[in-house]
Amino acid sequence: MTDTVDSLLASLDLPAKILLISGSAFFRFAGDPDIGLAEMPVSDGPSGVRGEHWDERDSSVSLPSGTALAATWDRELLSRVGGLIAAEARRKDVYAVLGPTINLQRSPIGGRHFECLSEDPLLTAEIADAYVRSVQAHGVSACPKHYVANDSETDRFTVDVQVSDRALREVYLYPFERSVQAGAWMLMAAYNAVNGATMTENRLLDEPLKGEWGFDGVVVSDWSAIRSTAAAADGCDVAMPGPARLWGAPLLDAVRAGRIPESAIDDKVRRILRFAQRVGALDDPAPVPEPFTDAAAQGLVREAAAKAMVLVRNDGVLPLANPARVALLGTAAGEPRYMGGGSATVIPSHTSSPLDGLSAILPVTYVAGVHAGDELSPVPTGLLTDPATGRSGLSVRYLDGEEIRTTEHRTASRLMLFSHPPAAGVTAVEVHGRLRADVAGDWQIGVAGVGAVTLTLNGDTVLDELIEPTGSDPAEIALKPPQRSVTRGLAAGEELDIVVRTAPDGGLPLIGVTLVARRPQRTADEEFAAAVEAARTAEVAIVVVGTTEQIESEGFDRTDLRLPGRQDELVAAVAAVNPRTVVVVNSGSPVEMPWRDDVAAILLTWFPGQEFGSALADVLTGLTEPGGRLPNTWPVTIADVPVLRTAPGADQTLAYDEGIHVGYRAWLKSGVEPAYPFGHGLGYTSWQLRDLSIAGRTAVVRIRNTGRRSGRQVVQAYLSRPDSAVDRPVRWLAGFAVVEADAGESATAVIELPQRAFEHWTDDGWRVEPGAFRLHIGTSVADLPLVADVRPSAEFAGVAR
Ligand code: BGC
Repeated sequence: MTDTVDSLLASLDLPAKILLISGSAFFRFAGDPDIGLAEMPVSDGPSGVRGEHWDERDSSVSLPSGTALAATWDRELLSRVGGLIAAEARRKDVYAVLGPTINLQRSPIGGRHFECLSEDPLLTAEIADAYVRSVQAHGVSACPKHYVANDSETDRFTVDVQVSDRALREVYLYPFERSVQAGAWMLMAAYNAVNGATMTENRLLDEPLKGEWGFDGVVVSDWSAIRSTAAAADGCDVAMPGPARLWGAPLLDAVRAGRIPESAIDDKVRRILRFAQRVGALDDPAPVPEPFTDAAAQGLVREAAAKAMVLVRNDGVLPLANPARVALLGTAAGEPRYMGGGSATVIPSHTSSPLDGLSAILPVTYVAGVHAGDELSPVPTGLLTDPATGRSGLSVRYLDGEEIRTTEHRTASRLMLFSHPPAAGVTAVEVHGRLRADVAGDWQIGVAGVGAVTLTLNGDTVLDELIEPTGSDPAEIALKPPQRSVTRGLAAGEELDIVVRTAPDGGLPLIGVTLVARRPQRTADEEFAAAVEAARTAEVAIVVVGTTEQIESEGFDRTDLRLPGRQDELVAAVAAVNPRTVVVVNSGSPVEMPWRDDVAAILLTWFPGQEFGSALADVLTGLTEPGGRLPNTWPVTIADVPVLRTAPGADQTLAYDEGIHVGYRAWLKSGVEPAYPFGHGLGYTSWQLRDLSIAGRTAVVRIRNTGRRSGRQVVQAYLSRPDSAVDRPVRWLAGFAVVEADAGESATAVIELPQRAFEHWTDDGWRVEPGAFRLHIGTSVADLPLVADVRPSAEFAGVAR
């Protein structure tokens, strides 16, 4: 392999090499026909494969969010999920999937919390390891991201994270180290700076990444994270997105002038060629993974979603025993969030909402109960006709002045148009749709977008405004653009011609424009009262609550942990009239649940992917156990959160003063009780753990299913070190095992404790403190009935690695 790489490298002149180290398009690595190197499309993202374009005509399977996947604690499941991701990538001609996101859930307000796996480095590392290995086993590259300490979104391009070497090594770098050991072919360098240097120019790319860890893959910049031509002398290998700006002609000049050594460019090209060989973009095509049928993909996503759901409270109401009358409440029951906002977004061809899933098997009365907030939703495309074709949907015209360049038929009213053809060079985009009102009343009709926007209804221009973005992050601008709307009274069946014209702002990599609407609705009080009334007369009330894309998304952090609108009020009112109230929480990350002790059951579902409804029905009826265990800590209130702040100071620094005490480690240190601890989760049976034995670094536990149903349990092992000479967490996760057993049966959990779990980082490298550690075994960080002393074996005690 090296031979081919070296001989190919030798055949390239400097301009050809420089072309290869920048993308050729927004989501495409450059190729070179002279050496048989194909262009290599890459795609977001961690929970599905969008493909090169953000286009509903090319749909993708939508998987549970990163946190949901980690909540399964299940490497075997992850290896099947990886197979699906690889198959999706191949189906879309994509060579690399930009995920998993393995930054840490340092603060619950972090905007991409839902996309990250866990607050714990070991759980993150284990899930990442399974993800990387399984995707790559099918010849598709994974791309763990974002290296490193990109744990929140506020000022993400400029924030300078101040973090100790020890916290980096033990917490933030560890999942990357394990991903390199898993054989990752690509990593993404983050936007932020760490200890004074932006990550695309940071020494951490050399040590430990490429030196000590021996990473021989490609470091790709996060999109637009390359800040200078001079950065080409450093460890980032590919500048994205393409086409080249800073690393094109100016870099050629810099190398020719001797300001940047050609050897630095050669090293990058060597890595790209090696990568191309691995993914089959040179002469030997990679193996094609077994394609998934739609049914197989849906089955796997449904299984993963159910295994990720965490039942944090249950007074016995679940599983539901054939209820005759169910009140299903909450806007999120009808319009849930399947995925988080931002680059993780994919467009599935079909979705199953809680309303779809539950009404298919139970006698359900549905009332939203609360209005969905101030934001209008994308117009359901079933209500729209494309005037150009007469088909359901709308048409998009790309204009050059007044000349129509291209017209497209589209089937989504939310459009993300990247700066690629046909959008390149256009001066304006026009979206046309004919709305047919399905109910009479006052409709609110509008547009979400930025720039020069006009909205015309039946030929009347009702809006002509230069709409300024609310933030400065391109993702935030495209994903959370301001909305403008007007009210129109429409009779049932009446039609309204809607035309939105928007002039793209040349500086933006993508144009986001959405036709939005709100149907006539009851007043907020009438809607609320109707829901409470439905709950009063039902046998069981199921309230689905959740966050919105305006709250949880890439590009910005949250400002609080509250459920938006009147959702808390609704749950409290429903619980007051129906003691059998089940709350289903559809949020990607922790929310406050002030009513949590007043309801019969609480099921956390995260962003579960396209099969939400069917998986929820499986879990609520007991067809499947709620398999998840918390990969993070859920606070009672935001005021209790020990590590919260994500905003840098005026000097742009953000100090990780808590050091290694992140997540449950910080909670244990603070002594404050959370609402639900790390690792917690109930199934539908009960368990007894006993007979802990330890051989070397392997712990073996017998676990008996003492209930009446078969079940699945995650047995967790934590270490502690009483009287340590070193500052340490009170306890830290050291290993875990998933077991299953039928009612009355026993199973054996075998937990491997990695050497690293016993080590701590010092100025002289990794060390093990001599003497005994204490091992705690149980089912959450707060429920650890079995304890034993364990001594790491002599062969590594005290030895630096
Ligand atoms: C995100 C990355 C993503 C990239 C390409 C960036 O803004 O931080 O995670 O892969 O965009 O969409």
